[in-house]
Amino acid sequence: MAFEEKIKELLDKRGEAKMGGGQKRIDKQHESGKLTARERIALLLDEGSFEEFDMFVTHRCTNFDMQKQSFLGDGVVTGYGTINGRLVYVFAQDFTVFGGSLSESMAQKICKVMDQAMKVGAPVIGLNDSGGARIQEGCNALAGYAEIFERNILASGVVPQISAIFGPCAGGSVYSPALTDFIFMSKENSYMFLTGPKVVKTVTGEDVSVDKLGGAMVHATKSGVAHFVGDTEEATIEQIRELMGYLPSNNFEEAPHVATDDPVDRMEDSLNHLIPENPNEAYDVKEVIDAIVDDGKFLEVHSKFAPNLVVGFAHMGGMSVGIVANQPKSMAGVLDCNASRKGARFVRFCDAFNIPLVTLVDVPGFLPGTGQEYNGVIVHGAKMLFAYGEATVPKVTVTLRKSYGGAHIVMSCKQLRSDINYAWPMAQIAVMGASGATEVLHGRALKEITDADEKAKFMAEKEKEYNDQFANPYNAAKYGYIDDVIEPRNTRFRVIRALQALQTKKDSLPMKKHSNLPL
Ligand code: HXC
Repeated sequence: MAFEEKIKELLDKRGEAKMGGGQKRIDKQHESGKLTARERIALLLDEGSFEEFDMFVTHRCTNFDMQKQSFLGDGVVTGYGTINGRLVYVFAQDFTVFGGSLSESMAQKICKVMDQAMKVGAPVIGLNDSGGARIQEGCNALAGYAEIFERNILASGVVPQISAIFGPCAGGSVYSPALTDFIFMSKENSYMFLTGPKVVKTVTGEDVSVDKLGGAMVHATKSGVAHFVGDTEEATIEQIRELMGYLPSNNFEEAPHVATDDPVDRMEDSLNHLIPENPNEAYDVKEVIDAIVDDGKFLEVHSKFAPNLVVGFAHMGGMSVGIVANQPKSMAGVLDCNASRKGARFVRFCDAFNIPLVTLVDVPGFLPGTGQEYNGVIVHGAKMLFAYGEATVPKVTVTLRKSYGGAHIVMSCKQLRSDINYAWPMAQIAVMGASGATEVLHGRALKEITDADEKAKFMAEKEKEYNDQFANPYNAAKYGYIDDVIEPRNTRFRVIRALQALQTKKDSLPMKKHSNLPL
């Protein structure tokens, strides 16, 4: 073959690979409102930055006459490129080839990018749209999944791993995304479940739609499986690009510094008046976050799940920070099973990837009751405690108002190796709130008072006595548990100064194989 023909052959093969399962199936993908794997990659990466691997890989299965149906690239597009100039590795399952189902060859392609990402220390982003294990390949497909899962596990805490779901993600294939750091789902067309509606009906008799069982909103609000939801595939991909701006490329790097014109010493007078005089009145902690971070920009994680705890990323003085804040606007900011799971996972991610933690505390305690106890609030709360106690990144805590009991300890108190703990003048740090404490301390006396007015008067007196003692930050500051009481309007400046001072912080854990996190 002449050289020219060889080049033509190459170009033809490339053209063929780019067509995936063929025009008909591409049209079907578009008709169902979905983008193709290549279109998704083009949106995700900087223009022209994609370098593809393994376009010429095909499956090697001969069961069921499979050799008669073969497509170049075999159901997944893989390679590397950049997001805002920073290297990332990517794979995108191609639903037009056997429904994106996972073959042995596909698994090898995915493992290749994961291995290389680990060698060079770059994030891996997987775009999922797949009918699961390729049925015709039997145990080879299962082995392929297991190879990917093992790499997900080894890469955990080494390079950020991001998954997006843009179609079906069913059966055991949900576990690769579940092993990664963040799951994105697009509102339309994406669903994740271990067993589909038909099996559910057979086994439990329950009638449920695909959406109700594992749609994006279900996982964003109820299960907490999805961290981010986008209205469209395009919006979801834009969210991934935005998230990458807060993350380092690997566990040895710092997150990139982002220059800002927002003055470090900007005073925010509104914060002096944000907290209502009545301690039982709510306010929106996101107003505090927006006021103290660079340019008011906050990327909330899990925004629709356990809203009583707010977590997310921001920059402060150009530094990437993870923010954890109780939300008085939702269930008075109480901690429960879901909030604890959410907080623990976020704290551990930040710690693994050198992102300092800023904790804003206004917490009345843990949610009481059988609902919580039966669901294991003890263990879930312990996860959060463990995550904060284990974290060695710089930790700055600001107590805005209430900080009671076990929840006070969990929310990055001094003794969990928090570095700098500030409090606003309205802070109240105590074992519990005044009325609960009065009931316990004066129960016997209260029982003896039969007149309701007299009882109320007695309660009010005792509550005042208690509040005089504990409804302030100075009692904790007296012992050095609070490093300083700060003016709310000056919070941004004081937190950034603290973070700057802590930039060279070194802390460690005792030598061990690994901890035994209360799972
Ligand atoms: C081989 C598959 C496939 C699979 C789909 N296809 N899933 N081929 N193995 N798992 C093929 C179809 O034959 C079809 O081929 C093309 O992909 C598109 O599929 P359709 O059914 O036409 O598309 P749609 O109507 O959109 O339905 C999508 C779907 C459905 C809901 C995903 O295909 C489906 O239910 N698939 C099976 C899902 C499943 O049970 N997977 C196994 C899960 S268990 P043509 O040639 O017509 O284009 C599992 C174990 C993993 O994954 C364990 C890991 C630990």
